[in-house]
Amino acid sequence: MKPPKTSPWGDATRAIHLGESRHGVGGPVAAPIVRSSTFTFPDTAEMKRWAEGRSSAYIYTRYGNPTLAAAEEKIAALEGGEAALVTASGMAAISSALLAALGAGDELIATRQLYGGTYRLMRDVLPRLGIGVHFVESDLGGAERLVGPKTRALYVETPTNPTLQLVDLKNAAKLARRHRLVSLVDNTFASPVLQKPLAYGFDLVLHSATKFLGGHSDLLGGAVAGGRDWVGRVRQMMIVLGGCMDPEGAFLLLRGIKTLGLRVERQSESALEVARFLQSHPRVAQVHYPGLVSHPQHQLARRQMRGFGSMLAFDLRDGLAAARRFCDRVRLFLLAASLGGVESLVVLPIFTSHYRMSRAELAAAGVSPGTVRVSIGLEDARDLIADLKQALA
Ligand SMILES: Cc1ncc(COP(=O)(O)O)c(C=O)c1O
Repeated sequence: MKPPKTSPWGDATRAIHLGESRHGVGGPVAAPIVRSSTFTFPDTAEMKRWAEGRSSAYIYTRYGNPTLAAAEEKIAALEGGEAALVTASGMAAISSALLAALGAGDELIATRQLYGGTYRLMRDVLPRLGIGVHFVESDLGGAERLVGPKTRALYVETPTNPTLQLVDLKNAAKLARRHRLVSLVDNTFASPVLQKPLAYGFDLVLHSATKFLGGHSDLLGGAVAGGRDWVGRVRQMMIVLGGCMDPEGAFLLLRGIKTLGLRVERQSESALEVARFLQSHPRVAQVHYPGLVSHPQHQLARRQMRGFGSMLAFDLRDGLAAARRFCDRVRLFLLAASLGGVESLVVLPIFTSHYRMSRAELAAAGVSPGTVRVSIGLEDARDLIADLKQALA
């Protein structure tokens, strides 16, 4: 379904109606799950046209599928991109995008504060493929000096997992443009509801769709959005690497996206209440939440985000032992990795996303042994705060 040209639809309308093919009498309201792994051609002439790149017919689900295409249309529209691609997981999206942008002999500049899996890909895998990686801080200090003739790409994540540091999207996109670097940003923590990096000039936006886009802790997925050319290149890389999304997962993703705006808005409101409660608690040393005036980048968050999100982290005064005691005592919050679902979760990054990292790496990522990461769901904020109170007592 296309938005009317005269009155472009808002995000909520787009999330619900784009990508659905409700054609004809009795057309389904919800996009059907097309489980078929392969698709028929009417004749060899059409097959030949496909092989020559003159037909966009579906051929095989790893290349594309109607259920996946419906999710891709919604994500492209929400991010303000010409095109989007869904993948088997966030890491499939990230690895396909980086390998589409970089080859042996190329160099990448990336912020050091990243989801642990992304950091491991850059620290351990890209260098083995002959790709040089330079890490910089989230403020991009010194990045300009690292740009050389082999530098091809700039990669950032904002807000960062797990300590909610922000990268200035405008500055980052400008830096990339100045040096003709491909710019990539992981927008998982904000979701397109709160922040649209393509509008600042980024080339590719990446997501773990497992998180807010899916929203119900019941699917693994990834997404890439951007200009048609770059998304096409990432798709070709994904096709050969094999990390395509399953149609069942795409259906769950479509279903999740329809309520994305409402969920993120409500979760953000509750997160602010929780952050304020934690900030006032005597056992809490520090709360990392961009919505708090005390957050060092609160003004930047106000400028580039339409809300502050539902992710926060905090450090307890008594370090790891206290953090473990707290996590073992919560009753309503679940002790689980992942985020962005309707259930509120707590987790210790040193045992999950940042496991087996050296002290120096943890310090650079802003993670202390006692850092607790919190994902606020859709329960009543009052109940969440009561649970935190009893677990901290
Ligand atoms: C910010 C961020 N990016 C990417 C990923 C990877 O996504 P996935 O687990 O779907 O592969 C995660 C997972 O936690 C994440 O938090």
